[in-house]
Amino acid sequence: MSGVLQCIFQIPSGKSCALANDKHPPSNFRLDGKTAVVTGGGSGIGRAIALKFAANGATICILDTNKEDGAKVREEIAQAGGEASVHPCNVSSQADVKSKFEEIFRQGRVDILVNNAGVSHIGTVESTTEADFDRIFRVNVKGFYNCLQACVPHMKELGGGVILNMASIAGTSGIADRFAYSMSKGAAIAMTYSVAKDYLAHKIRCNCISPARVHTPFVDGFLKKNYAGREKEMFNRLSQTQPIGRMGEPDEVASLALFLCSDEASFITGVDYPLDGGFCNLR
Ligand SMILES: NC(=O)c1ccc[n+]([C@@H]2O[C@H](COP(=O)([O-])OP(=O)(O)OC[C@H]3O[C@@H](n4cnc5c(N)ncnc54)[C@H](O)[C@@H]3O)[C@@H](O)[C@H]2O)c1
Repeated sequence: MSGVLQCIFQIPSGKSCALANDKHPPSNFRLDGKTAVVTGGGSGIGRAIALKFAANGATICILDTNKEDGAKVREEIAQAGGEASVHPCNVSSQADVKSKFEEIFRQGRVDILVNNAGVSHIGTVESTTEADFDRIFRVNVKGFYNCLQACVPHMKELGGGVILNMASIAGTSGIADRFAYSMSKGAAIAMTYSVAKDYLAHKIRCNCISPARVHTPFVDGFLKKNYAGREKEMFNRLSQTQPIGRMGEPDEVASLALFLCSDEASFITGVDYPLDGGFCNLR
């Protein structure tokens, strides 16, 4: 069956979009009529989530410091018949986040928030400077808090919503040389439980995904910065640290994100999902 026919047969009443094709077949986890804010939607995992959600009917609002990357993703979605807007934003600034959410609320409702924008850092407690620690905290912790604070009252008013935070296995496992990063991802998991608990009565579900290594520009940048000239060797070594023998793909994270943000996951809240090629249990 061709991709187009699959679309017609599987989503007779939903908004169809050419992003749902043979490579990205439509799933049952539709987001028709919903709007999702995806932070860091211009690259890597956030980009894959934006494309996957759009392919399954959602309108996407991308919040990213990188205006150009955000615009490329918006174009990809628009070219395929989907709807997206870009709101250049530094999530670590509360004023910036507040004003971008107000801009988005003026356009309509927000049903889904994906807190994904994040930055990495390599170092032990001794080699992590105060500036490093503050930078990681500002983006990975305060950035999540800023978006939660801007969006939760709106979701309360709507009578519900879904929040997905991008954590990491570094938040629950001891990973060498990741002092500040692990701290930030532990906080992302704790914020997930806290929000899930506090807003049960408001029908706001809140979960997080904890990926192990996923092949994105985040990983390529890390290899370039820390292992210049040895990128390929280190890429293979990092791949082999995961029992499945490879890094994850952004689209694999997006598939779990789609499920967790869909109505099919309506009984799931306050859960941290490892997506790790066996890292946590099979070493
Ligand atoms: N790639 C991995 O192996 C991996 C593993 C576990 C968790 N994660 C988490 O997944 C998330 C996405 O990672 P990725 O690998 O796709 O990274 P990436 O670098 O490919 O993309 C991150 C995006 O966030 C944006 N961004 C960075 N700082 C921002 C800020 N202050 N305000 C707004 N936007 C900002 C960047 O411009 C970029 O578009 C991060 O939270 C990361 O910690 C990644």
